Amino acid sequence: MAHTGAKPSPIEPVVEEGRAAPGASLAARVRRVKARPLPQHLAIIMDGNGRWAKRRGWPRTEGHRHGLKAAERLVEFVGRELEIPYLTLYAFSTENWARPRHEVEFLFALLRDFLRQKLDRLHEHEIRLRVLGELDGLPAALRREVERAVRETRRYERFHLSIALNYGGRQEILQAVRRIVDDKLRGRLNGEPLDERLFRRYLYTAELPDPDLLIRTGGEERLSNFLLWQVAYTELWVTETLWPDFTPEELLDALEDYQQRERRFGRVLDP
Ligand code: FPP
Repeated sequence: MAHTGAKPSPIEPVVEEGRAAPGASLAARVRRVKARPLPQHLAIIMDGNGRWAKRRGWPRTEGHRHGLKAAERLVEFVGRELEIPYLTLYAFSTENWARPRHEVEFLFALLRDFLRQKLDRLHEHEIRLRVLGELDGLPAALRREVERAVRETRRYERFHLSIALNYGGRQEILQAVRRIVDDKLRGRLNGEPLDERLFRRYLYTAELPDPDLLIRTGGEERLSNFLLWQVAYTELWVTETLWPDFTPEELLDALEDYQQRERRFGRVLDP
């Protein structure tokens, strides 16, 4: 349903089996999903910016510009309205380097300006920013903004925003293996067994819980090298909606669907 910005009606529509009835106001739907278990960590593959722009006869870069606005809207909604503590967004994969050079440069400049302009907002809302990926390969100006924002927000605990940037799941696993071998050879592991707990400490996401829900926009049903280790038991939700059109209302659709699911983690719940 479209959110009109009108005040919620005092008579709220009836809800059946945890799903909001058509016409329920945004505020009423928020209250309802918050009354049931929400994901603690939401991860999003924001796909479809290029197609969104092409459909309008615009350059792909316009899609990214509008994609950034959609991301900002979502961050506010997830952090302030839903109070989901961890949100991770896939912004640039190691495979995205294969795009036309001007598009890659545009994306980096967009992210650099975003971080520069929004640092005050991160402080204001006590948002801790993390960047998952290899910073080494990024342009110096972007890297400087990333490092500054990460450093200045590292004490915040209320809301954890992670941006996957120059990120690849296989690369993340490989760099973990390399660092573990290195630490082992240097005698830094004190005979600790190499188990899942130790391995996690070497991932970019060492301080984050695994995602409970992964949303992908743009209709493709694949992981695209995103958080391969971490999504072992994550619930998946895919929508045809192109990222710049993704709204808080549709996020509520995904959350209502998530809340209907039974998470078994490979077990039988009712033997
Ligand atoms: C996919 O669209 C999107 C990206 C490559 C990421 C770009 C994301 C943004 C600009 C928003 C980032 C915001 C924050 C706060 C991190 P696509 O170009 O692959 O679309 P297509 O599949 O239609 O070609």
